[in-house]
Amino acid sequence: MNIDIQLMPSAPSSNLLFDRAVVVIDILRATSVIIHAMSQGALEIIPVSTVEDAFQMAKAFPKGFTLLGGEKESKNIPGFDLGNSPREYVAERVKGKKLILTTTNGTKAFHLVSSGKEILAGSFFNIGAITQRCLELDRDLLVFPSGDEGNFSLEDTICGGMLIELITERAERPVTLTDASECAKILYERFKDNLLEAFRFSRHGKELINRGFEEDLAYCARIDAIPLVPTFRDGVIKVPSLRPSLPKGEGKGDGEAP
Ligand code: MLT
Repeated sequence: MNIDIQLMPSAPSSNLLFDRAVVVIDILRATSVIIHAMSQGALEIIPVSTVEDAFQMAKAFPKGFTLLGGEKESKNIPGFDLGNSPREYVAERVKGKKLILTTTNGTKAFHLVSSGKEILAGSFFNIGAITQRCLELDRDLLVFPSGDEGNFSLEDTICGGMLIELITERAERPVTLTDASECAKILYERFKDNLLEAFRFSRHGKELINRGFEEDLAYCARIDAIPLVPTFRDGVIKVPSLRPSLPKGEGKGDGEAP
């Protein structure tokens, strides 16, 4: 297995995507929201690129069945049902609903890699489950940090580095890494004992703190709280076979499991 990571979030070449599994990562906060919403019983999530697309898409479904969620410039969007904090996506709001989500980077990232063979949503919440899934797939992998408006993202790359390290440790067959993958692993090693330190260093982490979302940083640093692997196919994110979340307190992260 070869593992590459796209350190800058531009559209990968079709050669790079051909026959590869892809893991999209947006820790603060799109893939954390997606995985959390699925763990709380959301039926499926449609990631769209703009607010206009979200309103347009909602017209295609019966009222009361869909919810609009996401952010623009990390702020809630007027007329939307939910913002982009994973803490909002609880069963009382999302169970049995179809979500239409638009965010600055994360929702667009799924469309940038849509020609990959198998496209998975990853975050610290599901790092163990996503590692296991990549090992089962046993195919070349592209890790795709969603980045920060076209720029490198520290927190997404650190999560990518953790995934690369876990796969390398657990794989039964040899794994080859690119220089970019080695680099992400080194970054993870530097911050693995204090993910929050990295989040606070990052441009986007600072912006979320300034906008009053500091609690989201610790929340999104929870490791292995949700054993689900949402998959993007034909424009929709779903969990292929639903498994229940771990009971409260069984996550290994900074706080109790969601
Ligand atoms: C994104 O997709 O860029 C993020 O999720 C932004 C945010 O939540 O602030």
